[in-house]
Amino acid sequence: MLITGASGGVGQQLTRFFAKKEVCLLLHSHRGIQDLQALVDGLDFSHPPHLFQADLEELEAVQTLCEKAMAVHGSVDVLINNAGISSAAISWKLDLSEWNRVMSVNLTAPFLMSKELLPAMRKKGFGRIVNISSIVAQTGAVGTAAYAASKAGLFGLSASMARELAPKGITVNTVALGYMSKGMIEELSEEMKEDLLRAIPANRFGEVEQLGALIEYLMGPDADYMTGQVLNLNGGLYGG
Ligand SMILES: NC(=O)c1ccc[n+]([C@@H]2O[C@H](COP(=O)([O-])OP(=O)(O)OC[C@H]3O[C@@H](n4cnc5c(N)ncnc54)[C@H](OP(=O)(O)O)[C@@H]3O)[C@@H](O)[C@H]2O)c1
Repeated sequence: MLITGASGGVGQQLTRFFAKKEVCLLLHSHRGIQDLQALVDGLDFSHPPHLFQADLEELEAVQTLCEKAMAVHGSVDVLINNAGISSAAISWKLDLSEWNRVMSVNLTAPFLMSKELLPAMRKKGFGRIVNISSIVAQTGAVGTAAYAASKAGLFGLSASMARELAPKGITVNTVALGYMSKGMIEELSEEMKEDLLRAIPANRFGEVEQLGALIEYLMGPDADYMTGQVLNLNGGLYGG
């Protein structure tokens, strides 16, 4: 199971969740390799994890990452496209370079990662791809045009890939996360967090363990007929 962005807030919690499960973790990071190493050093694993570093903005880095990840067991059965970046800029002030950077990490990288891993999945007749999107793709939010567009792009990417790959036993789903207690949310001011909490019907932020449990279900045999879906994990904060 390859998790991109395992060094981030959500990725670290997913690593904790899956550490003792019957799964071999292939953990990717970019700049946070030391944080990830420190986390891994402090956890017990059912199977020793493998750590990789790559800038997912670079095609060659994506290809090398996938080659190395596949070398561990010959193929990667489960890909969690979790790495992502946010960008705060009002649309008419957003630089093209910043737009491209966000698209590259949030949308192009999941496409490229999938493309690299798919030949082995197709050969095996089994695969699970989970793309991590955001409620912001559905609701929009001021100052997030690039982020929202990139995350909405994952809906279309997943839906088309799901149709293409269903005959080969490969499912492709998207999880649209609401506001979680870890990760990007930690960059917000206390005031902004309180505003968000008031808007969430469940009156609390989501916990990554719930995402882990959802992914665990999607990985399993009971979910082999579930593909092309957008699964919302948002405490009732719907939009769009
Ligand atoms: N937390 C939330 O409330 C929330 C809500 C909705 C959706 N999401 C989605 O959940 C996912 C994880 O978010 P998070 O909250 O964990 O964010 P985070 O703490 O900021 O972590 C982001 C991860 O993406 C990686 N990354 C960033 N730029 C990269 C690049 N150029 N190449 C490779 N990796 C790169 C980071 O790697 P390094 O740190 O190693 O550089 C880090 O592991 C994202 O896709 C995000 O959009 C989160």
